[in-house]
Amino acid sequence: MIIILGKGQLGSALQKHLGQDHCVMLGRPDFDFATQADCDRVLEQYPHPEIIINTIGVVSQDQWKNLIVNFVSPAYLTMQYMARAKNCHIINISSASAWWVSYPGLDLNRFSYNLAKDSLSNFGRHINRIVVDQARAVTLTTIEPGKFQSPMSDHTGMEIKRVVDAVDYAIKAKPQHLSVIK
Ligand SMILES: NC(=O)c1ccc[n+]([C@@H]2O[C@H](COP(=O)([O-])OP(=O)(O)OC[C@H]3O[C@@H](n4cnc5c(N)ncnc54)[C@H](OP(=O)(O)O)[C@@H]3O)[C@@H](O)[C@H]2O)c1
Repeated sequence: MIIILGKGQLGSALQKHLGQDHCVMLGRPDFDFATQADCDRVLEQYPHPEIIINTIGVVSQDQWKNLIVNFVSPAYLTMQYMARAKNCHIINISSASAWWVSYPGLDLNRFSYNLAKDSLSNFGRHINRIVVDQARAVTLTTIEPGKFQSPMSDHTGMEIKRVVDAVDYAIKAKPQHLSVIK
């Protein structure tokens, strides 16, 4: 069973690519990942997924939400699955924004998104040290896409297929970190 968190452009493209029969896609209105209660409901309802792909993301005027949805929720879910899953591959979609968090002229709303994605990418590095040190049966892959075509980037950037291909590669090769800039 593959769980896709987020029903947006990338989540839908992944579901199409991986096959509806193998995937469950979770998001609004049933799950609001700005709340711990709904993260806990995912853990209760899907305690042993083979693969969980977190595609949720938001750039809004609400800095609290940007930090929670882009960093706190995925980090919380990852740690919870690490603690309880037998054999699980977690794929967190971060962003190439993690490489340039505070560029000149940046507004603080966008900064809170970049900072959250930077935190998610660094989180992946730290968690993978724990995975290796403690020989955990969990694999965590963090993917940092550059701009790709979706409402989030005004339909500009690289084709979404590049990101779908990166996720496909991650499922097969289980790398710890992938940046897909172009
Ligand atoms: N597009 C880009 O250029 C780009 C570049 C780098 C990284 N990324 C990352 O790629 C991932 C996919 O983005 P996308 O381009 O496919 O954008 P998208 O279509 O906007 O997908 C993001 C999804 O996250 C959902 N979401 C946001 N807040 C939520 C919440 N509190 N609870 C439940 N769901 C919530 C959105 O739901 P609603 O539709 O209900 O708001 C949407 O379905 C994100 O993590 C994004 O940060 C995107």
